[in-house]
Amino acid sequence: MARYLESIVENLTTAVVVVDADLRLEAVNPAGEMLFELSAKQMVGQPLERLWPQTVPLAGLFSDTLQSAHSFTRRGLPLSLPGREALIDMTVTAILPHAESSRQDPALLFELTQVDRLRRLAHEEEIVDRHLAQRAVVRGLAHEIKNPLGGLRGAAQLLERKLSESEREYTRIIIREADRLQGLVDRLAGPTRPYLPVQVNIHQVLEHVRSLILAEVGEDFVLRRDYDPSIPEFAGDPDQLVQAVLNLVRNAVQAPSRVITLRSRIERQFTIGQRRHKLVLRAEVEDDGPGVPEALRDTLFYPMVTGHAAGTGLGLSIAQDIARRHGGLIEYVSRPARTIFTLLVPLRQDYDPTG
Ligand SMILES: Nc1ncnc2c1ncn2[C@@H]1O[C@H](COP(=O)(O)OP(=O)(O)OP(=O)(O)O)[C@@H](O)[C@H]1O
Ligand SMILES: [Mg+2]
Repeated sequence: MARYLESIVENLTTAVVVVDADLRLEAVNPAGEMLFELSAKQMVGQPLERLWPQTVPLAGLFSDTLQSAHSFTRRGLPLSLPGREALIDMTVTAILPHAESSRQDPALLFELTQVDRLRRLAHEEEIVDRHLAQRAVVRGLAHEIKNPLGGLRGAAQLLERKLSESEREYTRIIIREADRLQGLVDRLAGPTRPYLPVQVNIHQVLEHVRSLILAEVGEDFVLRRDYDPSIPEFAGDPDQLVQAVLNLVRNAVQAPSRVITLRSRIERQFTIGQRRHKLVLRAEVEDDGPGVPEALRDTLFYPMVTGHAAGTGLGLSIAQDIARRHGGLIEYVSRPARTIFTLLVPLRQDYDPTG
């Protein structure tokens, strides 16, 4: 029974931390290790105030809890970690010495949930839902434009034969513009080629994008790489992934920015939408440009939303579509001098996009 309970605590997504009456750490579950970004070995024996200085003002409450055996909850407590700030909901309960347990000293049980992450999940779902609704409308529209467009072009070709050379300029304009519109409609409809999963090495994808970009825009900016070489191969469509990342990097180039970083990382036990995955790839494109314009932030992934006069506003919508076909998502954070677009893809061997 004890072993069974232990394994439950180990598998909880809630971080569980136990401290003794001196507020030194006694035990922590894997979710707790992930939250504090430290191993149990590094944490056990440490004073709580060193791991989490923002709890110092609560010392009085902790000792009251130990005395009274009540529990208390605090919401939205800040936790500073190297490189990021988290917000935590915390419930603290006293564990008192018990006749049937071997424990002699009282202790405090902390249950911790990172709430900014929950807020992020709700936001992600919204992105996916909105994106799906948008795609359906745009696909329908693209389809409706395609048929008459084909007729228009065919008729212009027939007409062309009846016209003199000097008059043919007009039909050529019709044909050229019809072709341009056809191209736009095809991009709007999204990738038509079916998703063909093979084994993908993300670094081959990133390197491919890098060489395409260097060929496109030359070397007048810095393209850095920051790769985690231990990322395993996974089932995906490499051509589509190149397209998605290329769209992100092109945006960074156009931002405009001077330094762009391609980064790869791995996340463990990570939730995308409503599904939790053992391993998730993070492929990031970071730039030092001016940041995403405030006015576009809520609709950025919609088709035809653009901040550039010459933009079609399709790059991000297409990239999001490709991410979704891989069971993943693209999200971003942006402020002046630091914008990061992140492609999240579950690392699995058998992803079925229709499932
Ligand atoms: N890294 C970035 N920094 C600042 N703004 C960005 C960045 N990425 C995207 N944006 C903003 O988001 C808008 C939409 O991007 P999206 O790629 O969908 O379309 P686009 O680049 O305008 O056109 P297209 O990609 O179809 O040529 C951009 O016009 C730009 O205003
Ligand atoms: Mg773009």
